[in-house]
Formats: sequence, C-alpha cells, structure tokens
Amino acid sequence: MTHDSVLTPVYTSPAEPSKRLTDLPPYVFAQLDVLKAEARARGADLIDLGMGNPDLPTPEPILRAIQEGVMDPANHRYPQFNGKPEFREAVSRFMSRRYHVEIDPETEVQPLIGSKEGLAKLTFAYIGEGDYSIVFAPYYPVHARATYLAGGKVHYCAMTEENHYLPDVETIPEEVAQKAKLMFMNYPNNPSAATAPLSYLEKLVAYCKKHGIVLISDLAYGEICYDGYRPPSIFNVPDAKSVAIEYHSFSKSFNMAGWRMGWACGNPGVIKTLFNVKTNCDYGIASAIQDGGICALDRAEEFLPGIIQTYQERRDVVVKGFQEMGWTIEPPRSTLYVWLPVPSGFDDSKSWCRHLMDTTDVVITPGIAFGDAGDAYFRVSLVSSKELLQQAIDRLKAKGIRYS
Ligand SMILES: Cc1ncc(COP(=O)(O)O)c(C=O)c1O
Repeated sequence: MTHDSVLTPVYTSPAEPSKRLTDLPPYVFAQLDVLKAEARARGADLIDLGMGNPDLPTPEPILRAIQEGVMDPANHRYPQFNGKPEFREAVSRFMSRRYHVEIDPETEVQPLIGSKEGLAKLTFAYIGEGDYSIVFAPYYPVHARATYLAGGKVHYCAMTEENHYLPDVETIPEEVAQKAKLMFMNYPNNPSAATAPLSYLEKLVAYCKKHGIVLISDLAYGEICYDGYRPPSIFNVPDAKSVAIEYHSFSKSFNMAGWRMGWACGNPGVIKTLFNVKTNCDYGIASAIQDGGICALDRAEEFLPGIIQTYQERRDVVVKGFQEMGWTIEPPRSTLYVWLPVPSGFDDSKSWCRHLMDTTDVVITPGIAFGDAGDAYFRVSLVSSKELLQQAIDRLKAKGIRYS
C-alpha cells in the first residue's frame, strides 16, 4: 500500500471540496477495499480478517419484530427525532439491568442511526475553529476525524504498553485543557482491546469536571466480553452524569451492523445538544428497525451468551495460533479484535499488511488505520468462522511467518 494516489481514483468535481475534507489522510479501510478488489480480480482466495464487520446473522426474534414493524403503516411516516418512547424506555431498562445505572428515558437518551453518526454529529455541535478534542490513541477513526472536519484541533493521549493503555490525563498541557471541549475515550478499546478499571474512569470524570470538558465514553463493545468480564459504564462513577455521555451500539452486540442502530445516553444538556444538531441533519432510525431494537434490548440475555461464546472460541483459535508463531499475547477480555505487534523486518504496519495479503491472501488491518500511534501494530478481527480463522493461521505458518 505504498502508492496511495493509484488506490484513490480521481474523479472531477464541478467545485472543490472543502480543504478540511481534502486535508484528511485517506481512510485506510477504503484503501483496503481497493486492494481486496484488486486481489480478488487476480483470483485470490482471500480470508478477510480486516474490518470488524460481524459475519453472524441477526437473531431471528429481532428480525421478526422488524418484519412485523415493516407491515405497520404507523411506521411508514417520518420517525420522531428522539425516537419512539418505547425504544428509549427499553434503553433505560437495559442500562439498569446490564450496568445498574438509572437513565431517564425522557431526557437522557438519544437514539442514533449507529453510534458513528452520533459521534460525528456531537463533534459538529461542539467543535469550531480553535477548539480542541482530546482523543485517546490509537483510536476509532471518527473520534479524531470529525474534529478535523469541524475545523478543530486534536490532542492525542497515547495509549501504550508502558502506561497499560491508561494514559495520565494530568500530563495534558494546560493550554490544551483550556481550549478542549470534548474528550473521547473507548474502553473496551478498538483496536487494542484494552479495558479500563472504574478507578481510571473516576480520574477522567474528575479531570473533565475540573476543565469543563464533555467526556465521551464509547462503549460499543460493552457486551462482547469474555471469561465473565464486565466493563464498567462511565455512569458507575458517582456524578459522572454531570459531564459524560455514553455511546452504545447494536452492531456488535446483536449482529446488527447493517441495520444502523445505536444510542447515546447521559447528561441531559449534552443529549439535548446532540438532538438539536440531529434535527438539522436527519430523521433518526427507521421506526420498524426501532421495533427490532426494543426486542434486542429487552431479550438481550437470551441473545448475548451464544454470540459471546462464538467470539470467545474464535479468539482462542487466533490467540493460540499467534502464540505458536512466537507472539506473546494476553487473551483479550473484550472486543472482536486481537492487537499484535508487527514483526521485525517490516518498516511499518502497511508494508506488513501488504506482505501478508500478497503472500498468504490473508487480510488484516494495519495499525496505522487507527492513527500514527498504531503503526507498530496490526489488528486481527474475529469476524470469520473458527475453521476459516484456523485456515488463515495455517497459511501464515506454511509461509514460515514468525514474530521475530
Ligand atoms: C469503537 C467504536 N465505536 C463506534 C463504532 C461504530 O459503531 P456503529 O455501527 O454503531 O456506528 C465502532 C465500529 O466499529 C467502533 O469500533
């Protein structure tokens, strides 16, 4: 992946797009798509462990709820901007059951067309020229990119092995803290699978309170956890609601990435701000899909164990395989990912990814997709069957790939 201009087709446009857009580096997943298409065109039998795109079907009762919803003419009109009251009530029940936190369905929930949409729109609501977002890096791309699109600046807090992926926010320069409006953090983390204890979240809440910063907890992987691990919600920190908002997604928890559904909950003022920006941009989740969401939330305990079990078995195949090839790995306690260092002999994550694709037809994500802080790493997604994951491992072994 060295020839970026070749990978990004150039089309003429009647007017110049904004510099904010054109200044963004290419989206690595879009580049990967081009490379995969090229490889398939030459007949490659790819095993794609790149994107975190769940391969399992949505549970049937959820699909049936959507089907019924589709047939109800009341669902054919524009949805309400803040979603169905029944959806918000189901969110409140879910948060109470799963995280033991109280969320007011009237004022503290905003349904989203997937959490990515809501993360970007909240940024547009708060960030303008000269404002800062604080982003933990490596990061899920929209955490930083929306700030650049809004004309703001990003201060990165590096998550490293040395700081156990829990950076010390007290080292953020004072002039940044003064201009910062948002802090994005994501535990369990994509891509590193790092988790954070409640005591660390307490520090973040205290810091954001001190500096008047909106704390954004991205809990997209809150339900995909292994070996009995349960992550805290930010609202398990006393008084976190005075500064925080938390994002949840149906995509991974219920294999619903294609349906586009999530929610934000927390501080009523921040929720209202998100609502305000959304009223200007969209009409929310299709009502029939919200019906499926209600079913997913209310019957989560029926659906989650099987999904988690499947991913945990896949994780074990990948961890064992890479351990046998010389990597030292702690099995991740959450997420759909295994995050590994690029072996010696490669300049960066892209060249390693390219090498694997060219020699084994196995696709992984180069860590640079999650910012410079990820460039010494690569991410393996658990989005293929155990058998296919084992085949990928076998292909790597057959090529003599080892960590050192
Ligand atoms: C950390 C994180 N946040 C948010 C999202 C977006 O999820 P959704 O499908 O709800 O937009 C993802 C998707 O991969 C993610 O990894």
